[in-house]
Amino acid sequence: MISLQNVSKFYPPTQKGGKPVLAVDDFDAQIEAGEFVCIVGPSGCGKTTVLNMVAGFESVSQGDIVVNGVPVRKPGPDRAVVFQQPSLLPWMTVFDNIGFGLTLQEGRKTRSHDKVAKIIEIMGLKGFENHFPYQLSGGMQQRAAIARALITEPQMLLMDEPFGALDAQTRTDMQKFLLTIWDRLRPTVLFITHDVEEAIVLADRVIVMTPRPGRIAQVIDIGLGRPRNWDMVLSPEFLRYKKEVLHILRPPHSQTAG
Ligand SMILES: Nc1ncnc2c1ncn2[C@@H]1O[C@H](COP(=O)(O)OP(=O)(O)OP(=O)(O)O)[C@@H](O)[C@H]1O
Ligand SMILES: [Mg+2]
Repeated sequence: MISLQNVSKFYPPTQKGGKPVLAVDDFDAQIEAGEFVCIVGPSGCGKTTVLNMVAGFESVSQGDIVVNGVPVRKPGPDRAVVFQQPSLLPWMTVFDNIGFGLTLQEGRKTRSHDKVAKIIEIMGLKGFENHFPYQLSGGMQQRAAIARALITEPQMLLMDEPFGALDAQTRTDMQKFLLTIWDRLRPTVLFITHDVEEAIVLADRVIVMTPRPGRIAQVIDIGLGRPRNWDMVLSPEFLRYKKEVLHILRPPHSQTAG
């Protein structure tokens, strides 16, 4: 469903006469419909660039990205994006922020109203419908941003470190919540994270990238059962996956380099 075919990305030189920056190099991956794929990799390795190309925010320099058989040329309502920082419209209430995409899409007020009310309840934001973003905690804002992304029931959900700024407990709550939603709606998810445990807990497959220029170092199938149980992070099987991913990210000979 999302096919990245030998995709490379050069950014233009930042200085006159400078060299273009190769951010992503020959990235080749197929993501099936309904699959949950995480990308992990060191800072600056090109994760956001990959996501932005799938989203249609950035063009590819070489190769092709094909979604449902159609080459990606621009953003589309089939691909909802959640950014690391909650991206709500500050002048709109929680209710209006969440309903925004739906109004554009459907224009039918009553049906939209019920739908927004329902997802607000699911997201634990009931009672905060008329609050403005600045009146919410960071975690609540991010839940509202995720609600806004999910309400149109997009086929694809592209998430760039969406829980990066949250405390550990809120983060775990959000991971559980995301998996519940994913189980119910089965969108195809491309989820970027720095956090190896988060990637393993969530994903069917983890794509591990090399430092820049980002290539795929390895793809690891996560054979842990679903629904995922958070006690499993201490299980030998989980720790084996964690060790495997960390080993790729930080091979023994490079450990002194951090
Ligand atoms: N618009 C741009 N113009 C020029 N260079 C860019 C641009 N965006 C990103 N880069 C460069 O491309 C490389 C990859 O950046 P990218 O943001 O994709 O990395 P990342 O893996 O998401 O990093 P992080 O984990 O820190 O978010 C970096 O070297 C960055 O400096
Ligand atoms: Mg990034």
